[in-house]
Amino acid sequence: MDFRPAHEIQNFGCGDRPGRLLLQLRRVNAAKQKNAANQAEGEERRHVESRLAENSGVVFQAHGCASSATDDPNNAEQQQRVADPALPLVLKACLRARLASLLGAVGGYALLSGCAGAQSALDPHSEQADTVAVLFWTFTAILGFVWLLTMAGLLLALTRRRDGRGESAEVRPAVKRPMIVAFAGMLALSAIVLSGLAVLSFRGQRTIFGSGAGAVLTISVIGHQWWWQVRYEGDNGFETANEIRIPVGSPVDIKLMTADVIHSFWIPSLAGKLDLIPGKSNELRIEASKPGVYRGQCAEFCGQQHAHMAIFVVALQPHEFERWRIGQAAPAKPTAFLTKQRVFTSALLESSQ
Ligand code: CUA
Repeated sequence: MDFRPAHEIQNFGCGDRPGRLLLQLRRVNAAKQKNAANQAEGEERRHVESRLAENSGVVFQAHGCASSATDDPNNAEQQQRVADPALPLVLKACLRARLASLLGAVGGYALLSGCAGAQSALDPHSEQADTVAVLFWTFTAILGFVWLLTMAGLLLALTRRRDGRGESAEVRPAVKRPMIVAFAGMLALSAIVLSGLAVLSFRGQRTIFGSGAGAVLTISVIGHQWWWQVRYEGDNGFETANEIRIPVGSPVDIKLMTADVIHSFWIPSLAGKLDLIPGKSNELRIEASKPGVYRGQCAEFCGQQHAHMAIFVVALQPHEFERWRIGQAAPAKPTAFLTKQRVFTSALLESSQ
């Protein structure tokens, strides 16, 4: 299995499960073989066109879109030599999803099986996601206790026999002292609980959105209707689409921008959610604690295909990431197959002259 150039993984985000992801990887591979044949045909036609243009003085417009290092299909040959390190991770994610659904079918685990998987804020794999999960469970526990307490009070009020039922209105004042004390106590308790939760929340945000020095890599992510452009900054920069690869255990800064409307970047297992606002650049830090494929989703309604605007983060071992990065940054080489085609076409043109 080899890595896909950006123009092929543009529709990659439509998959919503790791199983679909694997299927798509296979389909992409089959499509790539077809593309290679089309590419050869296109190359030959372009060559003939340019020869004709030279002969007749007609200028042909170059067609197709601008290509980056990863866009160039010539890069595919170079990448084919190295097995894609992401494949075992995708297979692992598939197995985990299967296991979770199997356990879910068994019964008692059914409620919790939805909390695991490639896209779950309750299956954290980074410090930031840990903080979000801890906040979630703390809020759920405290507010669940408050709810139980309220329900118990309500039940008591509904079922308790009122004392002094026979007394006249004068000797039974409307508001009794114990009631005032209970009301003041509840008000104070609510204020204490809400203030405590607010402090926890603000402290959590510092971890979730805190940045600073120490990032090994800066990646720009540009939101488009409806795909993600991923740009690796630096001297040997390159681009991918709908897929971010990062080294495990290293902080990576993500600059979030948009080319059109508001989108929202959210990889639940790795980080909090942050919006992409027109004319503004937001920054988010992610760091994966173990290798794997983590699914993300645009979390702000941005048009008809919003639901299909997914993104994958592939966390690789540092040496695997470095090998992939070098491969992506290297200049594209013409393939032997295409070179042969070119020689063949040139020979044809020469013999026809
Ligand atoms: Cu982009 Cu929703």
